[in-house]
Amino acid sequence: MTEPTSVVDLNALSARLRQDDREFRRTFVLGRLADERPVVAPAPTAVADGGELRARLVTLIEGRTGIDTSPGCSSGDRLDRLLAALPGAAASVWLLALDAESTDGPGWEALIASLTVQETYFFRDPDQLAFLRGQVLAKLVAARRHEQVARLLCWCAGCATGEEVYSLAILIVEALREAGEAKFRPGGGIAIHPRWRISVLGTDIDRAALRQAQAATYLDFAMGPFRSLPGALAGYFETVTDNLLPHRPGRLSRRMVCPDIRALCRFMPFNLTQPEPPVLDSDLILCRNVLIYLSNRVRNDAQALFHRALGRDGYLALGPTDNPKAPDRFQQVWGPDTVLYRKRPRGA
Ligand SMILES: C[S@@+](CC[C@H](N)C(=O)[O-])C[C@H]1O[C@@H](n2cnc3c(N)ncnc32)[C@H](O)[C@@H]1O
Repeated sequence: MTEPTSVVDLNALSARLRQDDREFRRTFVLGRLADERPVVAPAPTAVADGGELRARLVTLIEGRTGIDTSPGCSSGDRLDRLLAALPGAAASVWLLALDAESTDGPGWEALIASLTVQETYFFRDPDQLAFLRGQVLAKLVAARRHEQVARLLCWCAGCATGEEVYSLAILIVEALREAGEAKFRPGGGIAIHPRWRISVLGTDIDRAALRQAQAATYLDFAMGPFRSLPGALAGYFETVTDNLLPHRPGRLSRRMVCPDIRALCRFMPFNLTQPEPPVLDSDLILCRNVLIYLSNRVRNDAQALFHRALGRDGYLALGPTDNPKAPDRFQQVWGPDTVLYRKRPRGA
């Protein structure tokens, strides 16, 4: 049997599938990619039929990423669109090549970007964030401000393009300002009392989204990332003026998160199927609007992961449709129209 992975450029294939490129579909004929790279036909026994091929892809994707692509769910619809663009034999080659590639590889990166939903914006779910600020951040600041070294560690799991991470860092600075532990410098910037060691870690499986998060620059348009930004917090962003997007009426502008907020945030890839968390002893974890895309197995494992990553009395914030089925791990703390989960010690 010829080894198919050596000749299929998965990255090019998936990227072109993402574009939903009609021209590509017309020219992607069995045996050749549109760019004239040869595609090796799969071994005849590799996959029996389309149904079996799809089922094998679902199992492979779930095993590597936790993403549920079974028929009917949103990522399943995305997988169907990808498969519809491929002749059956090419889809078999694709399956074999994905199976042989590491989940960090370019074929997987492109596939993950095609399957995941990146919808996010600054200050999403303001009720939950307001409760977080009062219930968690203000209390943590009050409790730690007398320590010589005051540490605050938060983790946003599934942060997409970073808006949630920067929103949380802004809320932390606001809580510090309220307590007299931080202030705006007259000439610009934020001065935080040097006792504070603050870190907000953003992780995601999608590396392309993380690159955008790191750039911290966002297009400003109606119903875009700034749709829920409270006017009073607009000063945490700088308007970007460049030749790329000259400011003319009707043109899009961009805003960048200010450097002092960026300095509190860092990003790294992390797949929620990994057995060990990227941080330990964290005060607060946000994993909002992520678990709904994952299989039941990974949802449950992720909750155990969060329990391990949280420090004593740490808090977990989930999306409105996520409901941890582990009362032994977390205790519900209700606020106005929202809920947070507080870590219970093991065996409590
Ligand atoms: C809808 S976004 C949520 C963004 C943000 N948390 C919010 O609520 O606005 C879902 C994110 O989950 C990420 N994701 C999906 N499966 C993942 C996994 N197995 N590990 C880590 N992140 C994952 C996706 O890449 C995507 O960026």
